[in-house]
Amino acid sequence: MIVTTKKLFEAAYGKYAIGAYNINNLEQCMGLFQGNLDSQAPFIIQISKGARSYTDTLMLEGMIRSADKVFPDAVFAVHLDHGDEETSMDCINSGFYSSVMIDASHESFEENIAITKRVVDAAHAKGIVVEAELGQLGGVEEHVSVDEADAKLTDPDQAKEFVERTGVDSLACAIGTSHGAFKFTGSQGLHFDVLEEIQKRLPGFPLVMHGSSSVPQDEVERINKAGGNLKGAKGVDADQFKRAAELGVTKINIDTDGRLVWTRVHREFFLEYPEKFDLRGPGKIFMAEYAKFIAGKNEKLGSAGELEAVRNLVS
Ligand code: G3H
Ligand code: 13P
Ligand code: ZN
Repeated sequence: MIVTTKKLFEAAYGKYAIGAYNINNLEQCMGLFQGNLDSQAPFIIQISKGARSYTDTLMLEGMIRSADKVFPDAVFAVHLDHGDEETSMDCINSGFYSSVMIDASHESFEENIAITKRVVDAAHAKGIVVEAELGQLGGVEEHVSVDEADAKLTDPDQAKEFVERTGVDSLACAIGTSHGAFKFTGSQGLHFDVLEEIQKRLPGFPLVMHGSSSVPQDEVERINKAGGNLKGAKGVDADQFKRAAELGVTKINIDTDGRLVWTRVHREFFLEYPEKFDLRGPGKIFMAEYAKFIAGKNEKLGSAGELEAVRNLVS
């Protein structure tokens, strides 16, 4: 059942976070649904611009609609990840997405507000909810001073003004994470102090944490042992998710970790069986491993076991 993120956030706020997982292909789609049902968790499917153009947006839509039938017990939202204005409008008009993210965080504060407001108005007219971003995610490099790094974090006063002026439904905040497998190249961890200040100014308002892959070290070691080269890869400690949830984070974005599972499975498979070339061999293993990974992640997010309660809330 496809629902809006608003419904999921109502159920989760202050207690746990919903996992938002990116998909690009069939194997990820199958593993994602299976893993969420195995752990009885509601979830969010994220589709990036890159995923939309990897094959064709209609392929992704068709796959997700079919998965909804193959796994009739699943409760999930379909969300555009990091959309620009044009893509957001396209998704709003498609009638398929229940939620879009407009990411104008690279623009000035005023321009970010103007763009976000246009998307919010168009989305709300169709019952679609909107996530926006304020502050700048990004690697905190060694050469960047702590003051410079802090300046990229979301300003709590600006967050309140941004939400009030745009009418947006949730806000992605920069609290020290970055996208990809090489996070925290400096020494900074998560800025719970920033989350605390935002929550004080926006009580009950759902916050979003991007760049939240954990980049498990055993996964990195296995990839490197099987011929990969991911030296220095590092991620977010998944044991911090529940503290973030208590501070208003209701959506936690995870993509890189799934890519690592894919890489490990395929590297190890072809190293062990150099004579094989049937794509279904590693594909089957990946679907099972990805499902296991999703179920484990949902335990850390606190969303595992919440499916029944969410279903009762939305139906
Ligand atoms: O935040 C970005 C997501 O990990 C999606 O990545 O744009 O390469 O599909 P992508
Ligand atoms: P990771 O790269 O940490 O998985 O973050 C994904 C993300 O934020 C998608 O929007
Ligand atoms: Zn992101």
